[in-house]
Amino acid sequence: MNITTSTVENAVDNSVDTTVETTDDVSFDSSFETARVRSDTLRAVIDGPDSPSRRRLRVLTGDRPTGALHIGHYLASLRQRVELQDKGIDTFVVIADYQVITDRDAVGAIDDNVMGCVLDYLAAGIDPARSTIFTHSAVPALNQLMLPFLSLVTDSELRRNPTVKDELAATDGRPMSGLLLTYPVHQAADILFCHGNVVPIGKDNLPHVEQTRVIARRFNRRYAGGETVFAEPDALLTHTPLLLGLDGHKMSKSRGNTIMLGMSADETARAIRKARTDGERTITYDPATRPEVVSLLEIASGFTGRTPVAIAQEIGDGGAAGLKRVVTEAVNAGLAQHRRRRAELAADHGYLRRVLAEGNARANEVADATLATVRSVMGMPY
Ligand code: TRP
Repeated sequence: MNITTSTVENAVDNSVDTTVETTDDVSFDSSFETARVRSDTLRAVIDGPDSPSRRRLRVLTGDRPTGALHIGHYLASLRQRVELQDKGIDTFVVIADYQVITDRDAVGAIDDNVMGCVLDYLAAGIDPARSTIFTHSAVPALNQLMLPFLSLVTDSELRRNPTVKDELAATDGRPMSGLLLTYPVHQAADILFCHGNVVPIGKDNLPHVEQTRVIARRFNRRYAGGETVFAEPDALLTHTPLLLGLDGHKMSKSRGNTIMLGMSADETARAIRKARTDGERTITYDPATRPEVVSLLEIASGFTGRTPVAIAQEIGDGGAAGLKRVVTEAVNAGLAQHRRRRAELAADHGYLRRVLAEGNARANEVADATLATVRSVMGMPY
C-alpha cells in the first residue's frame, strides 16, 4: 500500500517549514501550535464520515517495552488505539524493543516485557485481525531504512531535539550513545516504513514527528526527484491530563509509583491507600496548589468519564480517605473487564506468541515493499 498524498490535503498550512532544505533546520519550538492545528484537523477527519482522505489514514504508534504497562498507558493511549481501530482505521503498533537500549546498558527482562505489552494490548481490545502488533528487532527492512534516513539529518538538529536533551539529562551525566542521539531517526523509520500518517502521541514525542516530517520531505526531494514516496505524517495529540505517580512524582514503570494493569483489585486498593495527598479535609480540584489530589481526581475521572470537579464536589468533606475510596472504586470498576480478559489470555502464552509472530510477518511484508521502493528510487535496484 502506498499512500502518496498528504493526509489532510491542503486543509493545513503547507507553507510551514518549507525552507528546511536550505536552512537545514527543523523547528522544534515554534511547531507546537501548528502541530495542534494539524492534529485538530486530523481529528475532524477521523471523527467525520467515510471519505477518501479518511480511508487513507494509517495509524502508527507504540511503546517502549521497559516494564509492565500501567493506568497511565491505559488512559492516555491503549483506549485511544482501540477507538481508532474500531473506527475502521488501519492500525500498526510497534513494541519498540530496540528503543529500550537508547538510554540503558541492557535490555532487562525484554521477552517478559514484550509479551506483557502484547497481553495488555489484546486485553484492552486491540484485535490482531485488524491491527498489526510487531517488534523492531524482527523487522530488518524497517531498521535498514534508518541508513538513508540518517543521511538526511544533521547531528546539530539531533542534538537540539528537546526529547533527546531531556533523556540525556536523565542519564545522570553518562555519555550519550549514538543510538540515543539518533533514535528520533529510528522512530521516523517506525512511522514511514508503513506509511503511517496518523501518530497518536503525547507532547513529549512531538519532536520526533516533526523530525519525521522533515525526513520524509528531504527524502522526496533529495532521492526521489520530488515524487512523494513518503507523505508527511501528522501527530494526533492526546488530550489526557498529566497524571502523577502515587508518590507525587512523575508516574513511571521503574519508580513503582503507579497502578499496573495486571494488579489485582486488592493490590490496587493497597497502592491507592498509600498514595500521597495533603492534610486538607475538603476535597477540591485545584491544580495550582493540590497536584496530588488533582492527579487522583483525574484518575477517577479517566475511568468514570465524569469531570474531576464533579467528583471533588461529591466527595466534599470526605477527606483523603473518601477520595481514595472513590478512586479505588473507579479504577477497579474501570479495569474489571480488562483484567478478566488479561487473566484469560495470560493462560495461553502460545497464542500471544502467535499473535506477535503474525504481526511481525505482516510488518515484514510491508517493510520489504517500502525498502524495495526506496532502493529503486535511489537507483539501487540490484
Ligand atoms: N517513543 C515512544 C515512547 O517512548 C515509543 C515509540 C517508538 C513510538 N516508536 C514510535 C511512538 C513511533 C510513536 C511512533 O512512548
